[in-house]
Amino acid sequence: MRADIVPTGRPVISATGLFTPAESITNEELVASFNLYVERFNAEHATGIAAGEVEALQPSSVEFIEKASGIKARHVMTKAAVLDPAIMAPRLDERGDDELSILAEIGVAAARDALARAGRDPGDVDAVLCAASNMQRPYPAMAIEIQQALGINGFAFDMNVACSSATFGIQTAADYIRAGNARSVLVVSPEITSGHLNWRDRDSHFIFGDGATAVLVEDAAMAPAVHWDILGTRLKTVFSNNIRNNFGYLNRAHPETADAPDKLFVQEGRKVFKEVVPMVAQMIVEEAERLALDPQDLRRLWLHQANAGMNRLIAQRVLGHEASEDESPTVLDTYGNTSSAGSIIAFHLHCEDLQSGDTGLICSFGAGYSAGTVFLRKAG
Ligand code: COA
Repeated sequence: MRADIVPTGRPVISATGLFTPAESITNEELVASFNLYVERFNAEHATGIAAGEVEALQPSSVEFIEKASGIKARHVMTKAAVLDPAIMAPRLDERGDDELSILAEIGVAAARDALARAGRDPGDVDAVLCAASNMQRPYPAMAIEIQQALGINGFAFDMNVACSSATFGIQTAADYIRAGNARSVLVVSPEITSGHLNWRDRDSHFIFGDGATAVLVEDAAMAPAVHWDILGTRLKTVFSNNIRNNFGYLNRAHPETADAPDKLFVQEGRKVFKEVVPMVAQMIVEEAERLALDPQDLRRLWLHQANAGMNRLIAQRVLGHEASEDESPTVLDTYGNTSSAGSIIAFHLHCEDLQSGDTGLICSFGAGYSAGTVFLRKAG
């Protein structure tokens, strides 16, 4: 912890960072691969299908994907294997324990970007939180590996609140600063969602993309001149089975179902849509009221990037009118749903043009259910 800083206990966002994988899959490429898999499956099981013993698979469609979700493409760590109808999963070389693991690597890339933008020396950071949906392993914590790779002192730990992990991480970091336990905290959200997406599931094969973000949360006393004051943070969880992934260490205790589809991402998308939109809109309006802000004065909403229709409805309920792309920017069209990274990617790519004094909101929502709000005001 820096000795020359007189802490204010006021948390701010000093900078954010982004890692975008080089490779990207368009809907056209995705659907062509999926439909080839369907064709082969149906040909292979033609007799069973004709006898009514096997259910024929249905093809996917580019039009459906774009209309239902707004997603047009997604970045992935490894494209060829995902698109190979015989594999339809990522293929990544296993690394030795003495090498930086791949999830830590993309987290470090995003973190370095954030540190460089803030002009921050890693030696001045007190803590690292790896806040993400998909940890590569149970331990040692991804956060500690990232901490070590960056040369950061202090402490680090992992936290998983699915798609809301980043906002839960920001509130945790802000609370350390409010309490005086840290002055500079990195919240890193690396997501290799392609590893838990069932690329053979017609209902969801188009949803996710890979990426990593980092948010540097600091005491106002050490922040760069241009930063974002955190006006307030609020978290909410309500249990739901509508988004679920049963992958875990007890799977090997029941080998008969260890590879069943529920050991990957599964959702009741329509129910999620219907239940989460009102929950999140109400949460935002109530939190704005608590902070004595008029939600209609918010200059920009950086919403979780899962579904364009959900964001349209939430923004409309919060702002009181149909939001323009400028008021509620979309990144899911090219990134897909990057889980916890989504709202931070939207912020990272669409925050520079705001003026000092402008207010905005980062808001995430997802499995759990879990939702988080971070109200911000630009300073400097
Ligand atoms: N290609 C073509 N048609 C498809 C399809 C595909 N890939 N997948 C499903 N369909 C069909 C269905 O079979 C259904 O046909 P039917 O009407 O003849 O029964 C129809 O399209 C509608 O399916 P449905 O699943 O109800 O679609 P939807 O409009 O609800 O859209 C989602 C699906 C997943 C895009 C949408 O529900 C969603 O994004 N929900 C929110 C999910 C979310 O935010 N999750 C958080 C994850 S962290």
